[in-house]
Formats: sequence, C-alpha cells, structure tokens
Amino acid sequence: MKPNKINQQRVNTMLFEIIRTENYEDMSKIAAKRVIGKVQQKPDAVLGLATGSTPEGLYKEFIKDHKENGTSYEKVNTVNLDEYMGLDRNDKNSYFTFMREKLFNHIDIDLENTNVPNGMVSDMEAEAKRYEEHIKEIGGIDLQILGIGHNGHIGFNEPGTSFDSRTHVIELAESTREANSRYFHSIDEVPTHAITMGIQSIMDSKEIILLASGAGKAEAMKKLVYGEITEDFPASALRLHKKVTIIADKDALQLI
Ligand code: GLP
Repeated sequence: MKPNKINQQRVNTMLFEIIRTENYEDMSKIAAKRVIGKVQQKPDAVLGLATGSTPEGLYKEFIKDHKENGTSYEKVNTVNLDEYMGLDRNDKNSYFTFMREKLFNHIDIDLENTNVPNGMVSDMEAEAKRYEEHIKEIGGIDLQILGIGHNGHIGFNEPGTSFDSRTHVIELAESTREANSRYFHSIDEVPTHAITMGIQSIMDSKEIILLASGAGKAEAMKKLVYGEITEDFPASALRLHKKVTIIADKDALQLI
C-alpha cells in the first residue's frame, strides 16, 4: 500500500475533516491506512464495523495488508452496526454472513471477539440490551466505520430516530428496502425490520470514519455537511461529535 501516492484533497470545515479522493479505490485505501494505523497503535482496539457495498473495498485492503504485512487482529474486538430481523444467520444476505465472507474468514481475528446483533432471537428487547452491555464490557468503540443511506440513515437508524436511541428494533423505510433489494431476488424478500445500534450508541464511539462513494450519495453528503442538525436526517447527529472524518470520493462530494 502506498497511500502517499494517492491524489487526495483535504477540505477543512468547522465540523468534519473531509478527505476527498479521486475514486472508490483511493477512498478504501486511505480509510484502511487509518484503521490499520489504529490497530497497530492499539492491538486490542474495538472496531465498529458496517456492511453495505461501501466498506467492501476497505475490508479487501485489511485482508491484503494482513497477508502482506502481517497486521494482526488477534486481540481486536469488533461490533457491527446492525442486522436484518428474521434472516437466518447463515442466509447469504445476513450481515453475520456478509462479515464472515468479506472479512473475518480472511484475517486472524478470533470469531468469539466479533459481534453482530442477532436478528433471530424471540426477545428483541433483551437482545438489544445484551448488545449495549457487551459494547460497554469490551470498553466501548474506539473507531466506528459508517456508510450512509440515501435518506441519511446510519446503521439502520431511519429518519425520525431519536438522537438518544440505543440498540433497538426499527421498521425499515421503503426506500431502504428498495435500495437493498438489489441483493435479493425481489423486494418482497427484503426484511421489513432490523435491529440496529442507536444514534447514541454510535455517538459514544471515540472516533468515527464515514465513507461515501458515487454520485448517488452526493445529496446526502451535502445535507450531512451543510444541512440542519435534525432527527429527520439521522447522520446529521455526527455534527455533534468531536472526531468524525469523512473519507469520500469526488463523485460523492460533488456538491461540497
Ligand atoms: C445499509 C446499511 C448501512 C449502510 C447503508 C448504505 O442498508 N444498513 O449501514 O451504510 O445502507 O449502503 P451502501 O454502502 O451499500 O450504499
């Protein structure tokens, strides 16, 4: 990895450090350099991880670096943001399976130290409480990776979610189900509900990196950076966090 050769442009706002990259590959490489740096500096770091297509390149970079440079995840704990409700953990569309296939099976992480909320238990309130308590027990999240939905969702916190929320069950917005139907045979197969870390659970992270790629995210990124801080646009809560870095490609940042 030679990130010093990557063409990147820094934009300073009062609120976020924004790193604008040429393309998706560079976004992934620069983000990987930061996260890997954190793991090297704190080998037992707690990483908050996200799913979706945006962080896939980042996970590929982790795997490449692990193989080439031997960065170890043996002592790292991970906490995932969310999971669909009612999808078996072994379903190809579950985030449990996504994480194993895209990352965990290819690095030296102890699977016991990886956490994805369980969308199959009958007592969801107990599961949400257990998840929150576990995050506390392992010391809280050092570095949280986020993507962003077109409607400003982070994790699966859809518009209208309270900024005080902790892990909870949520009904997915129709637009989210439509966007995610690309992974399923039809929209009817997309679960209607999910369990997600809340906005407050995300805000408790010591540091946050938000990734965005492609013109489809440009409006959301504009609202994130310049819009109102409002529960109608969940990601806007991040404006109240002390340490958020946005790493995004120029298409996603074309309105900024
Ligand atoms: C998904 C996930 C989010 C993700 C977002 C964007 O539904 N729950 O964590 O950030 O939507 O996904 P993508 O990266 O595929 O655009």
